Amino acid sequence: MPAKEARDYIVFALDVPTAGQAEELVDELGQEVGMFKVGLELFINSGPDFVRRLVTDRKVRVFLDLKLHDIPVTVGRAMERIAAMGVAMTTVHCGENRGMLEAAVEAAAGRVKVLGVTVLTSVAAADLRYAGFEERFSGHPQELVKHRAAMAFECGCSGVVCSGHEAAEIKKNFGKDFMAVVPGIRPDGGGRDDDQRRTVTPARALAAGADYLVVGRPIRDAGDRRAAARNIAGQVARALAAVPV
Ligand code: C5P
Repeated sequence: MPAKEARDYIVFALDVPTAGQAEELVDELGQEVGMFKVGLELFINSGPDFVRRLVTDRKVRVFLDLKLHDIPVTVGRAMERIAAMGVAMTTVHCGENRGMLEAAVEAAAGRVKVLGVTVLTSVAAADLRYAGFEERFSGHPQELVKHRAAMAFECGCSGVVCSGHEAAEIKKNFGKDFMAVVPGIRPDGGGRDDDQRRTVTPARALAAGADYLVVGRPIRDAGDRRAAARNIAGQVARALAAVPV
């Protein structure tokens, strides 16, 4: 396998509704990022045929981020369908029990990397308190992330989705091959008025051992998207030079 370049660390979130808009973004950014993420909005509106077109006709590496959360048999059956689509990675919530994760991993049968979603990067301590979590988790979201990452690891997931604040601890506990996929990337260090809470810069995510950085709005909403993606790749390259991986 060729060495992973800086741009290969960047997963651009195709957070647009139509196949036409998504294909324009793929054309625009295909040389600047390593993978494209299809999430709920695009999948609901444009469907599995569009995903297959990206994978099969356009040879695009796709992260199909559907964040499954249902009873094990339903998750397993959905994962069967996902695994047949040729996407590189997909997501399941770590949720309340191991059965859901085990069903996902079993159905994937190694055809797609299954990532456990630990605690969304839009969630802060106050949200966990409101949701009824006891103090050892609500006071310390990173503890809940670690707890759920352990579930994902034990159930055979390839890795987890977590924030850059938790990636280093996950690598330390579960080894370098257990993937840490990090959204909530803010190239300028944050300060944006949006829904993300546990954000980090590309450099910080890389230093923590992130395998992939999921980036949406900082590229999608930029005046010059290619320049925004190159700026992030530059930050990744500098971080890689500083931290041998
Ligand atoms: O960079 P931005 O905040 O726009 O990224 C948003 C994207 O990251 C969305 O596609 C969202 O689904 C994804 N995301 C994720 N896991 C999280 C938080 C956001 O996959 N914990």
